[in-house]
Amino acid sequence: MSKSQFLLDKNITFLNHGSFGACPKPIFDEFQRFQLELENDPVHFIQKKLPVYLKEAKKPLAKFIGCEMEDFFFTPNPTFAINTVMRSLNLQKDDEILTTNHEYGAMDRTWNFFCKKTGAKYIRQEIKLPIVSKEQIIEEFWKGYTSKTKVVFLNHISSSTALIFPVKEICDKAQELGLITIVDGAHVPGHIDLNITELNPDFYTGTLHKWMLAPKGSSFLYVKAAFQNDIDPLVVSWGYESLFPSESQFLDYQEYQGTQDVSQYLCTPKVIEFLETNNWEQISDDCKKIVRDNYQRFCDLVNTKPICPITDVFLGQMASIPIKTSKPMELKELLYTKYNIQIPVMPLNGSVYIRYSINAYNSQEDLEVLYQAIAAIINTTDLIEV
Ligand SMILES: Cc1ncc(COP(=O)(O)O)c(C=O)c1O
Repeated sequence: MSKSQFLLDKNITFLNHGSFGACPKPIFDEFQRFQLELENDPVHFIQKKLPVYLKEAKKPLAKFIGCEMEDFFFTPNPTFAINTVMRSLNLQKDDEILTTNHEYGAMDRTWNFFCKKTGAKYIRQEIKLPIVSKEQIIEEFWKGYTSKTKVVFLNHISSSTALIFPVKEICDKAQELGLITIVDGAHVPGHIDLNITELNPDFYTGTLHKWMLAPKGSSFLYVKAAFQNDIDPLVVSWGYESLFPSESQFLDYQEYQGTQDVSQYLCTPKVIEFLETNNWEQISDDCKKIVRDNYQRFCDLVNTKPICPITDVFLGQMASIPIKTSKPMELKELLYTKYNIQIPVMPLNGSVYIRYSINAYNSQEDLEVLYQAIAAIINTTDLIEV
């Protein structure tokens, strides 16, 4: 699929789908069509059409992510979703939330905030690199378990290290131990297989605006039925003490949170149709192969080692190259300003990673541009140590 089907600047080598996705033109057109329809008669749209459109949007999404449409609601982003869960958890002083040291910074901050307020403890269990096997991750993760552990919080695909985590195995064991499981699957929908019912977490958040190609600000929070009555809305509005209650108090509370333009949610049927008619699973598989085929070569270039076995067990459409630099922000800036390459350079746990994402609009050529740029930076600056 050519880059011209997307709205991306043609002069930029865009290797950062992972941060905020990229939206194809037909989906963006649908987004704007909904905005125009709203503006055409805002009252009728918001009071009458919106509830119907929301249901029409949730139905195909439920099938896509493998759960019932009554069990999730749209949120603008995963931070919003995890804040919603966090605020409703009734944890006590010294209760522990077990997690890894690979989680997304906004999530770490959310939990730190919660722990400051409640006296609970956020345990960032170290998962050592390089990863050698799923079993290693699982074993290291459970070393953080104590009699005080009440919650497991885990990313399904990590941000800075771009690794797929063995979420199913960890959720299964957590259920056996009677722990609450919360999964941050921001990178998962449209990227790797997802069936929430089979995975069986208590809470799961994912985005549509990353790998499903939806317009920005489209995500969801799944809540297992047993927890739905305990989840407060982050913003209290008309759905609380509703004048017209539906069958689900959970959805009444969560789905209307004041006046908003939610056209990005309403595009979901178009988003899924776009993925299906363009045979997206095949496109994704082809992209994953490009990611794997290049990984060792980039590590060799910067004289570091892969952080995991180069297989689809750990790698999807992104890979993080460990890079030795004391100036990650300067390196990112130089790649953008001098070489027109949009790519994140991210510090985590004392190391720095440069993460390339590959999507339908990328080709091997983009990675050659990156390769040449890094080679030039090594030869002409002291930003990268080799
Ligand atoms: C693991 C993970 N969680 C969450 C997010 C995004 O969260 P938000 O859009 O709420 O900032 C990302 C984005 O890259 C991520 O990698």
